[in-house]
Amino acid sequence: MRWNLGVAGAASLLLAHSAAVELTIGDAASTKAAAGTIAYGLMKYYTGNNTGDTPGNLPDPYFWWEAGAMFGTLIDYWALTGDATYNNVTSQALLHQASGTRDFMPANQTRTEGNDDQGFWAMAAMSAAENNFPNPPSDQPQWLALAQAVFNQYASRWDESTCGGGLRWQIFQFNNGFNYKNTISNGCFFNLAARLARFTGNETYADWATKIFAWEESVGLITPQYDIYDGVTIKDGSCNDTDRIQWSYNHGIFIHGAAVMHNVTGGAALWTQRVQGILKSTQNLFYNNSTGVVFEQFCEMRGFCDNDQRSFKGYLTRWLAGTAQMVSDTFDPIQKMLQASAAAAARACSGSPAENLFRGLPGTACGFRWDQPFDGSTGVGEQMNALSAVMYTLVSRATTTVTAESGGTSKGDPGGGAQGPGGGGLPSQILLPIPLRERVAAGFLTAGFVFGVIGGSAFVML
Ligand SMILES: *[C@@H]1O[C@H](CO)[C@@H](O)[C@H](O)[C@H]1NC(C)=O
Ligand SMILES: *[C@@H]1O[C@H](CO)[C@@H](O)[C@H](O)[C@H]1NC(C)=O
Ligand SMILES: *[C@@H]1O[C@H](CO)[C@@H](O)[C@H](O)[C@H]1NC(C)=O
Ligand SMILES: *[C@@H]1O[C@H](CO)[C@@H](O)[C@H](O)[C@H]1NC(C)=O
Ligand SMILES: *[C@@H]1O[C@H](CO)[C@@H](O)[C@H](O)[C@H]1NC(C)=O
Ligand SMILES: *[C@@H]1O[C@H](CO)[C@@H](O)[C@H](O)[C@H]1NC(C)=O
Ligand SMILES: *[C@@H]1O[C@H](CO)[C@@H](O)[C@H](O)[C@H]1NC(C)=O
Ligand SMILES: *[C@@H]1O[C@H](CO)[C@@H](O)[C@H](O)[C@H]1NC(C)=O
Repeated sequence: MRWNLGVAGAASLLLAHSAAVELTIGDAASTKAAAGTIAYGLMKYYTGNNTGDTPGNLPDPYFWWEAGAMFGTLIDYWALTGDATYNNVTSQALLHQASGTRDFMPANQTRTEGNDDQGFWAMAAMSAAENNFPNPPSDQPQWLALAQAVFNQYASRWDESTCGGGLRWQIFQFNNGFNYKNTISNGCFFNLAARLARFTGNETYADWATKIFAWEESVGLITPQYDIYDGVTIKDGSCNDTDRIQWSYNHGIFIHGAAVMHNVTGGAALWTQRVQGILKSTQNLFYNNSTGVVFEQFCEMRGFCDNDQRSFKGYLTRWLAGTAQMVSDTFDPIQKMLQASAAAAARACSGSPAENLFRGLPGTACGFRWDQPFDGSTGVGEQMNALSAVMYTLVSRATTTVTAESGGTSKGDPGGGAQGPGGGGLPSQILLPIPLRERVAAGFLTAGFVFGVIGGSAFVML
């Protein structure tokens, strides 16, 4: 029920404002100031550092994974702008949600946690290692070790019993979606494996990255034209019931991992081909031909992107910027895509809330659609997309991330991840199945259930 509120209700609550976030493309000071204004509006949604609240959580209706995505964005924000305002809350959130088992499987989340949810937190930890984000005290989990712990758990969950391999969407058998093998979960595994390979130089990670990409192709989720589909449902042991919706973050997570593998392999032709192929497919699907501005092709123009989906194009932006850093031939085309989108995003950050949804500076609330001034849709996804659009234009040919060999200081633990509930067998005997109502309330990150919504199925009505 909550899923359409943002778009349907917002226009009447919010007035467009003549102010907007000012941005001069290519001017670093202007870009940092614009990013700072948008980040301020974003972090006003965060309540996890208030007394009595839980560090790392966003308030309703934002799910746990999106908070992980947000802290990943904030690490890059600091790395690109030098503004450390949010570093402390970011560290606190990541360490708290890493939890006692040091693997982003906090007991509060395990009953609904999917591989993709865990992945967005793990990728934030990986970004922290790659950017030399300040290391936690030595008695706390370390960024690299956290990424390795999640990698190890993914490897232990690789399931050859159906579809010739792949990660299932869900970790636990009793959860809806356990019979779905999806691209974003395998994309998290792929992206992490490629980046761990680059950071540590350990070939095991590179072998996994190679294997995961090949699996996505073998099952038809990545096509020869580099269309990238959402996932496949296992039915009677066969795996040809494919959800062919294309979401921008799936292109993003795979192009970035492929770009990192391009770097790891010293520019292997196969990875060049994959990077260029996904880039072309990304431009064709998600970038407006006349304006060059990114949009969520499946749902944006038709106005039914849900809360989760309203944040996806920000991650595509993040991963394209990462691609530009890894594969120099992609720098110019990607910079064009990023700059056109940044200008449009900043123009759309001109809302003023009439109700207390947005607490940033008046006249700077960011909308979701960027083909018009402020469209009335506000939230964490809208702010995060616009922040990403603006700040990733700061990526230059000279910027790069570190590795263990080139100044990276984060400490690893190649054997991590064995102690949590995700490490060993499935703890279905200690965790009771969740009532359907609760599961619906907890929501689903992946888009696999979206057609239910389009078809007006019982799933939304519950
Ligand atoms: C929580 O963090 C936000 C963002 O940094 C800050 O504005 C706010 O004052 C902090 N609240 C508390 C209680 O520390
Ligand atoms: C972050 O925490 C450190 C240590 O507790 C403190 O010295 C520093 O002032 C804090 N920075 C911000 C921006 O709150
Ligand atoms: C789990 O929930 C409890 C109760 O709300 C809270 O105190 C605790 O900090 C939470 N733990 C995590 C890791 O979120
Ligand atoms: C799906 O796969 C099964 C065997 O795995 C095969 O018998 C069936 O024809 C396939 N269906 C389609 C539509 O390809
Ligand atoms: C990989 O990245 C490093 C910098 O991080 C760079 O020096 C090197 O040339 C890159 N290799 C390839 C093949 O792009
Ligand atoms: C842009 O044009 C190309 C070539 O005609 C087409 O394949 C692509 O689908 C178009 N993209 C969009 C987003 O309309
Ligand atoms: C591209 O942008 C133009 C101008 O904003 C708009 O009219 C058109 O509908 C957009 N096309 C797509 C495929 O989004
Ligand atoms: C490389 O990574 C694998 C997988 O985590 C691990 O088992 C192995 O010990 C690592 N090797 C080194 C030299 O760290």
